[in-house]
Amino acid sequence: MDLIKQIVEKAKSDKQRIVLPEGTEERTLKAADQLIGDGVADIILVGNLTEINESAANLGLKNIAKATVIDPKNYEKKEAYTNLLFELRKAKGMTIEQAAKLAEDPLYIACLMIKSGDADGEIAGAQNTTGDVLRPALQIIKTAPGISVVSGAFLMFTTQKQYGKDGLLVVADCAVTPDPTASQLAEIAVATGNTARALVGEEPQVAILSFSTKGSAKHPLVDKVIEATTLAQKLDPTMNIDGELQADAALVPSVGQQKAPGSKVAGKANVLVFPSLEVGNIAYKLVQRLGNAEAVGPILQGMAAPVHDLSRGCSVGDIYNMVAIAANQAIAAKK
Ligand code: ACO
Repeated sequence: MDLIKQIVEKAKSDKQRIVLPEGTEERTLKAADQLIGDGVADIILVGNLTEINESAANLGLKNIAKATVIDPKNYEKKEAYTNLLFELRKAKGMTIEQAAKLAEDPLYIACLMIKSGDADGEIAGAQNTTGDVLRPALQIIKTAPGISVVSGAFLMFTTQKQYGKDGLLVVADCAVTPDPTASQLAEIAVATGNTARALVGEEPQVAILSFSTKGSAKHPLVDKVIEATTLAQKLDPTMNIDGELQADAALVPSVGQQKAPGSKVAGKANVLVFPSLEVGNIAYKLVQRLGNAEAVGPILQGMAAPVHDLSRGCSVGDIYNMVAIAANQAIAAKK
């Protein structure tokens, strides 16, 4: 996990403003306290000030007083955020009254802060579902230029050092797009390769996975992966991308050589792209629970600013790490 240490150190070197809309949630408060104490980020908590102060006192947290607190019912920019939300969503039928109500919702406030340049990134999901965290982000912050689909990657720190980078694999989509089209899958493959480039510092070897390797099975689902591979290779000709590959052909050199001779990726993949969210979400959780892998993420890819959704079972350490990752992405985006 030296990689996480590097990410934390980079975040400290250029502190970013990270908003935590679940500002009264216990794990969030504990993580915020540590992040402020360690100087990892400038923390903005959305929540009632009295409630935050009382919880902080009960938990013995000394640094929370240094956080900026936005009370969702009563904050300086409420009218400005209401108008911004109305402008952004009126074509979709939103009324000014609906916008005013949503401008009191912490998950909307966090996205409106980012859109207005008042925050650099957001972490939520300790209390709220993935859909509730992502919907305002997709509506307000939207995708990065040239990107049409958002997806969620995980850094999987496995104990199997012979695979990936000393056991580290970057995998996606495990969080967002239930049934991607071939062109969406191609974008997800390139985005995941770029996440590996940005965070792992290793040239990505991207395998788009299937239950078939190079024509071993015929099925419309296999055809989709073949098409996605061709599109992804066109999307970024500089990146090593191959498919359709089974997981063993992607990871194990002898199997890769046997099933996909001549492939640049087979047998040495460090980025695994799943054909659907069902596969990705189930696969990462099985590797995490049965294979004792450390899973860091989901790291959202393709959004115009860093927003990350936590699992509701997350730990204080997970929140801490995701804030540092968002800060790194914000630093990279500013450059
Ligand atoms: N990429 C980019 N934009 C998107 C995406 C996407 N993947 N999905 C939706 N959008 C956009 C839409 O275009 C729309 O924009 P518009 O309103 O400006 O036109 C906006 O987001 C809202 O779209 P809807 O279709 O109304 O939103 P929906 O209710 O479908 O929600 C969501 C989208 C939240 C991503 C949904 O697909 C979802 O819930 N996905 C599964 C999430 C999940 O449960 N993951 C598993 C758990 S995570 C874990 O275990 C780590």
